[in-house]
Amino acid sequence: MLARSLDRSRIGRRSTQVRPWTDLLDPRGDRREKGTDEEMRAAVTTAPGVLEVSRVDDPAGPGPGEVLLRPELVGVCGSDLHLFNGHLPATPKRRRSLYPVIQGHEVCAVVEALGDGAAAADAPSVGDRVAVWPLTSCGACYPCRVGRASVCDAFELVGVHVDGGLAEQLVVAADHVFPIGDLAASLGAFVEPMAVAVHAVERSRLEEGEAVVVLGGGPIGQASLLAAKAKGARVLLSEPVAARRERALALGADAVTDPGDLVTRASDFSGGDVAVVVDTTGVPACLGSAIQIVASAGRIVVVGISGDEASVPLGPFTEKEFDLLGSSCHERSDVVAAVEVVRAAAPTLGGALGPEYALEDAAEAFAFAGAQGDATKVLVRVTG
Ligand SMILES: NC(=O)c1ccc[n+]([C@@H]2O[C@H](COP(=O)([O-])OP(=O)(O)OC[C@H]3O[C@@H](n4cnc5c(N)ncnc54)[C@H](O)[C@@H]3O)[C@@H](O)[C@H]2O)c1
Ligand SMILES: [Zn+2]
Ligand SMILES: [Zn+2]
Repeated sequence: MLARSLDRSRIGRRSTQVRPWTDLLDPRGDRREKGTDEEMRAAVTTAPGVLEVSRVDDPAGPGPGEVLLRPELVGVCGSDLHLFNGHLPATPKRRRSLYPVIQGHEVCAVVEALGDGAAAADAPSVGDRVAVWPLTSCGACYPCRVGRASVCDAFELVGVHVDGGLAEQLVVAADHVFPIGDLAASLGAFVEPMAVAVHAVERSRLEEGEAVVVLGGGPIGQASLLAAKAKGARVLLSEPVAARRERALALGADAVTDPGDLVTRASDFSGGDVAVVVDTTGVPACLGSAIQIVASAGRIVVVGISGDEASVPLGPFTEKEFDLLGSSCHERSDVVAAVEVVRAAAPTLGGALGPEYALEDAAEAFAFAGAQGDATKVLVRVTG
């Protein structure tokens, strides 16, 4: 592998190189031999649209303050598909290509080994099943200084900017893993998307008993529904796909609607008091709907991602004095809360997760997830 990074500001490695084995040097500079136990199986995205399942160099860890994980199940999400298809913009701040990389940021794993200093009182133990907080921040930029690590100017994600969970081994900082007890691995893999939803709900300053409208019933919309219910809200979810509306009802939505009936249904549902709209669609026109239905003094949180422009009327901004908020990724506290939301939702959520693909079939899993079926979460089984 490439030289091991002991830079403590990073939580992962980016060492994946698909190249002749004779070219591989270990950290001590010795040549590694093909077939040693320093290899692992991994699904490597070598270029846009190209995923190779092969044996690659292992991460050679854990270093000080790190843990070595054995990923069990990894969720596939929309951002994975953006990266896989070459549509994840390499922002000007990124100085290097995103490829090759081992993807997978929705990771449930088992702790295999602790690095020096990683055995603090609140640290995980060897054998613990954990969810991974895949985000690292610089601690120095403006958003970091004001406590908003999720939008750090130099943030990096495991499975995007450093190697992720679609491999038999993964090394991350010990303080980025969260034991999930006896939760099933599929639920552990849903902690990260749940943390996205928890963060969005936190951004909205939601109060118990308030009426929330969630736009979109995909994985993030369903997670937002659960996160809002966990805060004691009443939730109406809007989604054009009937199977996803059914899923939302099964997960505890108070009501669901087709987007065509949204304005009337939202008004009836809330008595005109839609305190919060969480837009998880990534459809620009939905921002206009959110502005139309939100109550004066309400809050709109945009979670869905799109490169397209949204055209909205200016009048309601001053007429209604609503807050228009963006939401990106998650903070540590969101992951901690997400574990509990997932645990509480386990009886209904557990049956909704899948289908499960083998690591060898990771490309198929990506294709299935991209086909916009009604699956809540497509999973890849890495080990176990
Ligand atoms: N902000 C973040 O940190 C973050 C993190 C993860 C994902 N995302 C983004 O969140 C979005 C949702 O992710 P997902 O995995 O649930 O995607 P998804 O595509 O499965 O879900 C979007 C849902 O919106 C529905 N939809 C389309 N038009 C609609 C309309 N007019 N009204 C209501 N619903 C409509 C679709 O049918 C679909 O079910 C994506 O844009 C994704 O990239 C953001
Ligand atoms: Zn994700
Ligand atoms: Zn920063």
